[in-house]
Amino acid sequence: MEKKKQVLSCIQPTGDMHFGNYFGAVKNWVDLQQKYDCIYGVVDYHAMTMPYSPKKLRENTWALIFNLIATGIKPEFLFIQSLIPEHAELCWIFNCFASYGQLTRMTQFKDKSTHGNEQDSGGFISAGLLDYPVLQAADILIYQADYVPVGKDQEQHLELSRNIAQRFNNQVGKEYFVLPETLFTEVPKVKSTADPSRKMSKSAGEKHYINVFGDEARIRKQIRSAVTDTGDSTSGEMSAGIQNLFELLKAGEQLDAYDQLMKEYENGTLKYVALKDAVADTLVNISNEFKARRKELDSNKKEVKNQIKASSANIRKKAQQTLRDVKELSGLMNVKF
Ligand code: TRP
Repeated sequence: MEKKKQVLSCIQPTGDMHFGNYFGAVKNWVDLQQKYDCIYGVVDYHAMTMPYSPKKLRENTWALIFNLIATGIKPEFLFIQSLIPEHAELCWIFNCFASYGQLTRMTQFKDKSTHGNEQDSGGFISAGLLDYPVLQAADILIYQADYVPVGKDQEQHLELSRNIAQRFNNQVGKEYFVLPETLFTEVPKVKSTADPSRKMSKSAGEKHYINVFGDEARIRKQIRSAVTDTGDSTSGEMSAGIQNLFELLKAGEQLDAYDQLMKEYENGTLKYVALKDAVADTLVNISNEFKARRKELDSNKKEVKNQIKASSANIRKKAQQTLRDVKELSGLMNVKF
C-alpha cells in the first residue's frame, strides 16, 4: 500500500472557537483524518508575537485542545507547539535561509504592524511578529508535510516555506525537503451576522462571532438579530446577510432545509424568521453535541492532558529526526540523545 500523504496544519490559541473557525478550518481537518496522515498543532509560540497575557495563553492552549478533541480531532494527531522546542530551533536555522526583505513584505506583518488597524499591536512591534512566517515554515517542514490545509490568506506564508526549503536544499546540495503544497478545499466563508460585509472574527469584537461552545440562548439571539437587510436589496441580488444565513445552513449540512428555503426565497415567499430558525437550530444542534463531548473530556481533564503530552512526545520524535538531519547537513553539531 502506498504511504499516505502527510497533512499538517496549525491554529493559534486565541480564545473561543467560533463557527467561522469551525466551518472554515476545523471541520475540514476532521474530514481530512479519513484520508491522510495528519498532524495538527496548537501553536502557542505564535500566539506570543502580539501583546498577550501569559496566564491566558496557557489557559487558551488547553481550552483549544479540549475543543478540538470535542469537535472530532483525534488526540493522537494533536500536539502543542511549545512541547516540541525543536520548532524554535529549526526556526533559528531557517532565519538564516529566509529573506529579510520578503518578511517585511508579508501582508499579515504589514496588517498587524500598522497602527490603527483592527489588530493593533499597541505600538510594540516585536521581532517575533516579523519572524512569525519563518516559525510557520519550521512547523511545516519539520514534519516533511506534503499538504497544508489553510485559507487563501496563508498562501504567502506557504510560498515563503517553499522558498526556505528550496534555498536550504540548494545550500546543502541535497533535495532534503519536499516542497509543501497548499491544500485548498472549498470551505464556507462565514461572515459576521452583525455585519455581513466582514468575516466572522474575534478581533472585531464579541458581536462579530458566534462561539461554538457558547450558550444556546446566546447563539439563538445572535442568529435572530442577524442583519438581513444590508441596503443592497434593490439591486435584486440576495443581500449579504441572507447569503450568509444560507451559507451557514449549507455548512451545517442541512441540505433539505436549504433547498426548501431557497425555493421559497426564489418565489418570494421566504420568511426570514423561518430561515433564521433553521440556522439557529442547526448551529445549536452542532453546539450541543460538541458541548456534551467537551463535558465528558472536562471530567477527565488530567487524563486528556496526559494524552496530549504523550502525543506531543510521540510527534516530537519526527521533529527531532528532521532537526538531526538538518544540523548534520548545515554543518552544526548534534547533541547526542
Ligand atoms: N499562521 C496560521 C494562521 O494564522 C497558523 C499557523 C502557524 C499555521 N503555523 C502553521 C498554519 C503551520 C499551517 C501550518 O492561521
